[in-house]
Amino acid sequence: MIKKYYIIIIGITLISCSQTNVSTTSNNSQEQFIDSILSTMSIDDKIGQTNLRGTSSRAKTLSEELKEDVRQGKVGALLNVMKVEFVDELQKIAVEESPNKIPLIFARDVVHGFKTIFPIPIGLASSWDTEIAESSSRVAAIEASSVGIRWTFAPMLDIARDSRWGRIAESPGEDPYLASVLGKAYIKGFQGDSLNNPTSIAACAKHYIGYGAVIGGRDYNTTIIPEPLLRNVYLPPFKAALDIDVATVMTSFNEINGIPATGNEFLLKDVLRDELKFNGFVVSDWDSVIEMIAHGYAKDEKHAGELAANAGMDMEMTSKTYENHLKKLIQEGKVSEQQLNEFVKNILRVKLKLGLFKTPYRDKKNEANFYKKEHLSIAKEAAIKSSVLLKNKDLLPLSKNTKVALIGPLANAPLDQMGTWTFDGEKEHTVTPLEAFKKANVDFKYIPSLTHSRDQSTSEFKKTINSVKNSDVIVFIAGEEAILSGEAHSRASIDLPGAQESLIKELAKTGKPIVLVIMAGRPITISNIINDVDAILMSWHPGTMGGSALQEIIYGLREPEGRLPLSWPKAAGQLPYFYNHKNTGRPANKEDYVSMYDIPVGAWQSSLGNDSHYLDIGYKPQFPFGYGLGYTDFKYSNLQISKDTINFKENLMVNISITNTGKRPGKEIVQLYTQDVVGSITRPIRELKGFEHIYLNNGETKEVTFKISAEKLKFTNHKNVNTAEEGDFNLWVGPNSSSGLKSSFYLKKK
Ligand code: BGC
Repeated sequence: MIKKYYIIIIGITLISCSQTNVSTTSNNSQEQFIDSILSTMSIDDKIGQTNLRGTSSRAKTLSEELKEDVRQGKVGALLNVMKVEFVDELQKIAVEESPNKIPLIFARDVVHGFKTIFPIPIGLASSWDTEIAESSSRVAAIEASSVGIRWTFAPMLDIARDSRWGRIAESPGEDPYLASVLGKAYIKGFQGDSLNNPTSIAACAKHYIGYGAVIGGRDYNTTIIPEPLLRNVYLPPFKAALDIDVATVMTSFNEINGIPATGNEFLLKDVLRDELKFNGFVVSDWDSVIEMIAHGYAKDEKHAGELAANAGMDMEMTSKTYENHLKKLIQEGKVSEQQLNEFVKNILRVKLKLGLFKTPYRDKKNEANFYKKEHLSIAKEAAIKSSVLLKNKDLLPLSKNTKVALIGPLANAPLDQMGTWTFDGEKEHTVTPLEAFKKANVDFKYIPSLTHSRDQSTSEFKKTINSVKNSDVIVFIAGEEAILSGEAHSRASIDLPGAQESLIKELAKTGKPIVLVIMAGRPITISNIINDVDAILMSWHPGTMGGSALQEIIYGLREPEGRLPLSWPKAAGQLPYFYNHKNTGRPANKEDYVSMYDIPVGAWQSSLGNDSHYLDIGYKPQFPFGYGLGYTDFKYSNLQISKDTINFKENLMVNISITNTGKRPGKEIVQLYTQDVVGSITRPIRELKGFEHIYLNNGETKEVTFKISAEKLKFTNHKNVNTAEEGDFNLWVGPNSSSGLKSSFYLKKK
C-alpha cells in the first residue's frame, strides 16, 4: 500500500514537471517521460490504456459505471461521447482521480466534416486537389476539437475498385498515387502544424489493409492479395500517411490470404513497425478482435486477445479481450509484459504529442465553432471542385432566364445530400438545390415526382409530364439516398434505384432537353438512360453546401472542376474494374470486338478473333479514370521529352503545351501516365505518375513540365524487392487515363 502510494506521488511529480515543456522536448526526453509514467503503472493500469470504450452518442446521462471505470484507470480512450459536459467530467475524473492521472482521448468518426459537411471522400477525391482536401479536414478538426474530440477515424485510405462496395463512398478511389497525395493532405489538415495545437486532432489511417479488395464488393468479405499487389497497390497510401506522421492506424475487418488483419503479425509488426517505422498506435476496428472467432482464426475471446496482442495491435476498440484476458495471458506466458509495455508507450506517445498531459481539457474559447462563414465557403468550393461533368451536348451552362423544371428525389433531400458518416451534420443547415435555386431567383418550377430514391410509385408521372411542357429544360436530380452506400451497404445492381429510370425515360419522350444530376455514394450505371439525357453531372453526396455549388455550376457562374478518381462502370457485371490493370495475353483493345449479336446462331465453338472482353458490353468503362469535362475545350500539343534514355540517377523532363481552344476560361487537370512495357512481373498498362492543375483564359497556351526519375518507376517484384527495372517505358500526357499524347524512353542501369 505504502509502496503504491509512493510510486503514484513520483508519477504525479514527473507528470507535472514535464508538463511545462512537453511540446518542445526532444524525442529522447519524450521517451523518458513515457518510461517514467510506465514505471508507475500496474499491469491493470497498463491494460486500461489499451481500452477504447464505445459509448452511445445519444446517451442522455453519463453512466456511473463508466465514471467508475475511468476513475479506476480502466479506460484509455472513449468513442462517441458527444455531450461536452460529459467530455469535461470524464476527463476531470481521469486526470484528477485515476491511478496515474493519464488523460483520455475522445474519438469520433469525423470523416468528411463534423457539423459543416464536405463532399463524401470519393467526391473530394474527384477534386484531385490537395489544397481543398487539406482545408476541408482542417475545418473538420476545428469544429470537432471545439467539443473535445481529439482523434478522428479518418482518412480512409482503402483503394477501392468495385463500386458495388458501399464503402467506396468513403474511399479515395482506385489509384494508389492519387490516394497517397490526397491522404497526406487530409492528415495535414486534421493534425495541423503540430498535434498539440488545441484545434489539431489525431488522424487515423484506415483500414489497414486491403479492405477495399473484399471479394464481390460484399462488405466484410475476405480478400486474396499476393504480396507484390499488396505493396504496389494497397500499401502506398499508408506509407504516404506514415511519411507525414499520421498518429494512428486502424486495422481492417477483412482477412488477407487467410489471416485477419487484426491478428496479422506480418502486417502489423514486420511491415508497419519494423519496415515503415510507425511509432504511433494501432487501434482495432469495432469488435474486429472478437470477429476473429467468426473468421475461424481464434477459438474464443481469450485466444482472439492473444492473437491480436502478439500481432502488435495496441488498442482494442469496443470488444474487451484485453480488458478481460490480457493479464491472465501475461501470467500464463502467452503474451509478454514487454509487449503490453510497447502498447502503452505507443498510446502515451500520441497522448503526449496531442499535448493532453499539459492541456487535457478542450479549449472553451473555441466552443461550438460551427458553420462559420469561411467553413461554408470552403464546403461550397469543395463541392464545386468535386463535381464531375460526364456528358454535355451543348446544354450546360443554362442562361438565367431558361425556364427550368426541377425534378427528382434528390432535389430537396437535405439529409441524403450529406452522405454516409455524417452523424453530427444537421440537415437544417444543408442548402439543397431547391433552396439554392430559390435564393438565386432563377426561373424554375419544382416537381419532385418521386419522394425518395427508392420510390417505386409512378402515380405522379402524368402530372409531372404535363407540367414540364411549359419548361425549356428539365433538371433531374437523381441518385441514391445516403443510406444506400457506406458501411455494410453494398449493392449488387448499381443502377438508379426505384422508378427513377422509368421517369427519366418518360420525360425524354417530351423532347425537352434533360440535365441529369446524380447525387450518390458510388458511380451509378446509366447505360439504360445515357442516350435519353443531354448532360450528366456527378455531384456525389456533396455535403452542406451542395445545392449552392450545383446552382452555380448549372448556371455557369462556375464550371465543374472534378475528374473521376475511378473508372465508371457500364454494368455491375464488369466489376471490379480499374484502369491500371494488366494487359493479358489477348488484350481487349479493338473497337470492333465481337459482340454477341454478331455471332451467327448455331455457330461452331471458336475463340478466334475474341479477346478479353464481354460479348455484350465490350471492354471499356462508361467513363475512364481521370475523365471529366469543363465548360471549355483544351488541345494538347508538342509533347517533348528531354532524352530518349535515362539512367537510374537522371531525370527525364516531360514537356507539353495545353491550349484553351474554347470560349471561356477554364481549368484542366493535366495527367501523366507511364507503362513499364516488360517487367520481371507483368506491369499495369498505365499508371498515374503525376498531375498538374492549370487555369487558362480562352485562347491561352501554357506549358506543363513533369519530371520522371527511376524512383517514380519502382515497384515490388515477385521476390518482394522494390526496384525499377531496366527497359522500355511508354508515357502519355493527357486529360484522362484512356487518351493523351504518347512518347517513350529507355531506362538503363548504367
Ligand atoms: C468502421 C470504422 C469506424 C468504426 C468506429 C467501424 O464499423 O469500420 O471505419 O471508424 O466503426 O465507428
